[in-house]
Amino acid sequence: MRNKVIFFEVQGGNDKGEDGYRKDTMPMVNALKERGVEAEVIFYNKAREEEIYNYVSTNGIAYVSRINPGNLKEEECYFNMLRRLCDEGVIGMPHPDAMIGYGSKDVLVKLTSTTLVPDDTYAYYNMNEFKHQFPKSLAYGERVLKQNRGSTGEGIWRVQLVDSLNGEEEAPLDAHIKCTEAKDNHVEFWRLGEFINYCEQYIVGDNGMIVDMRFLPRIKEGEIRLFMLRDKPFYVVHKKPAETEDAFSATLFSGAEYRYDTPEQWSNLVQSFLNQLPEVRTLLGNYDLPLIWTADFILDTNEAGEDEYILGEMNCSCVGFTSQLELAHDVAEEIIAAIKEKTLTVS
Ligand SMILES: Nc1ncnc2c1ncn2[C@@H]1O[C@H](COP(=O)(O)OP(=O)(O)O)[C@@H](O)[C@H]1O
Ligand SMILES: [Mg+2]
Repeated sequence: MRNKVIFFEVQGGNDKGEDGYRKDTMPMVNALKERGVEAEVIFYNKAREEEIYNYVSTNGIAYVSRINPGNLKEEECYFNMLRRLCDEGVIGMPHPDAMIGYGSKDVLVKLTSTTLVPDDTYAYYNMNEFKHQFPKSLAYGERVLKQNRGSTGEGIWRVQLVDSLNGEEEAPLDAHIKCTEAKDNHVEFWRLGEFINYCEQYIVGDNGMIVDMRFLPRIKEGEIRLFMLRDKPFYVVHKKPAETEDAFSATLFSGAEYRYDTPEQWSNLVQSFLNQLPEVRTLLGNYDLPLIWTADFILDTNEAGEDEYILGEMNCSCVGFTSQLELAHDVAEEIIAAIKEKTLTVS
């Protein structure tokens, strides 16, 4: 009988607690068991993939994916196995293509029709596109270039022209530019053409791409992370970059300060995001919303002079809550609710 909730993890990596699992996994498993739902953890291992697939497709009602892609060499194989499980009727939390869709940096260009992302946001998948568009974007104003891989501000560059242009619509390739990396807010000076070539490393290889978006100066006021369980916001992390001159990074390593708020303290943001969530879901392929995910926002000012919240990125494959373990009970309730919704619509 299919009745188990399977948590997928992978062995190793620095995100594990003393029991070898991610610190919040066993609290979720136990919270399900307390509610009479069978649950267990399985370590994904490519060598045992068929065995795992057979076991889960026979016994699993749902899976919860808890694998940080950085810890997995065979991501493509893992996603293919999840796809097969979803095709077999196992409830995917989330579906692998939702994980890819929400989690990739180019999610931004898919959402330009909402107010969450400025229209002039681009994604480059090859050097030609990058060389063609980026000098034009930069002529218009300061930009942020984002690589797709990693999540520590590495390969996230704020790019500014050192000298203003004389009305040209395209910055020349020998223009001097100032580049600040979000990893540690360090500054490098480059010629535009040379920097474009340097960024080729972010485009080549699996999942390579660069997203080019407007620099939002109100990042100084902080980045606002909404922590979501499906369609419900649970808490907000306000991440304020260091006060130093070039600082724009909200990562801990770069010296940003974190504060934990309630969603009620950010009701404008929450309302605006929840109103647009059905459209976001449609634009991203109509998958069920991820079980545990985050959306990061930066303040901007619209033409009417009002505050607007711009989406910077979303994460849904490695989100955890190591410091608020009581959330495990809320997660368990959401898992049960998701299963009920699915099984009611099927039968
Ligand atoms: N458009 C932007 N304007 C201003 N700052 C930005 C912008 N995009 C990103 N940042 C800053 O850069 C940091 C890293 O970018 P992010 O897209 O979150 O990548 P990562 O996956 O490395 O966290 C953010 O936390 C934020 O401080
Ligand atoms: Mg980030």
